[in-house]
Amino acid sequence: MKIVRTIADASSLVTRDGTVGLVPTMGGFHEGHLALFRAARAENDVVVASLFVNPAQFGANEDLAAYPRDEKRDAELAEAAGVDILFAPSAEELYPPGFQTWVEVEQLGRTLEGEFRPGHFRGVATICLKLLNVVRPDRAYFGQKDAQQVAVVKRMVRDLDLTVEIRVVPTIRDGDGLALSSRNAYLSPAERERALALPRALATKDAAQARARLNDLDVDYVEVADFEPRVLAAAVRVGKTRLIDNVILDKERA
Ligand code: PAF
Repeated sequence: MKIVRTIADASSLVTRDGTVGLVPTMGGFHEGHLALFRAARAENDVVVASLFVNPAQFGANEDLAAYPRDEKRDAELAEAAGVDILFAPSAEELYPPGFQTWVEVEQLGRTLEGEFRPGHFRGVATICLKLLNVVRPDRAYFGQKDAQQVAVVKRMVRDLDLTVEIRVVPTIRDGDGLALSSRNAYLSPAERERALALPRALATKDAAQARARLNDLDVDYVEVADFEPRVLAAAVRVGKTRLIDNVILDKERA
């Protein structure tokens, strides 16, 4: 696996001989990321992963500084999962002085997560478009865990006439039901126990029942979201940690 840090190296290294799959990430790799890498490996000739903790998608009071960073470990895991090229640029490379162009997916970016994290999806859409422009993949891979991110990226792809195919990989859960997330590392054992209310509530696939089961947690929202597919999505705070999760709603219940 080659590690590249500049846009010039990333775009020149990616060959055009076969299909290219891109997995955009912020590092802190767990089985959820590895599932994305494996899906990309199975479907493409060349697999590129980006590793960039994107400051533009963090709010002023969020966990940008604390976000797990261990490039050596991440690089080993990515290589073992079949990644060919790891694009790990600096913030200056992607946001040079004078940077001032942003992608805003207006309505979709303002609801649910967007309401509680203003500007978050502007940062996500902008960095995703930049990464897609640098790597020019045939397919890009995202996790269903971030259902609204998937909806925002798909909307951007349609609205801006991009030709990339967006592939969505199912959420990976630990044995206790908690969806894998880099942020789970912040939870103490007692907090983790409390956090299990989230997957249990969503498993009811019913917004009212889920709200009742989350009574003891600090809930930002529990809502049915009209994405494709429809999901029951929720965000809760456990101590200082904010967790999101969702379940796909069956067509019969839609
Ligand atoms: O899901 C993530 O890790 C990030 O939002 C992404 C897609 C890599 C953009 O920074």
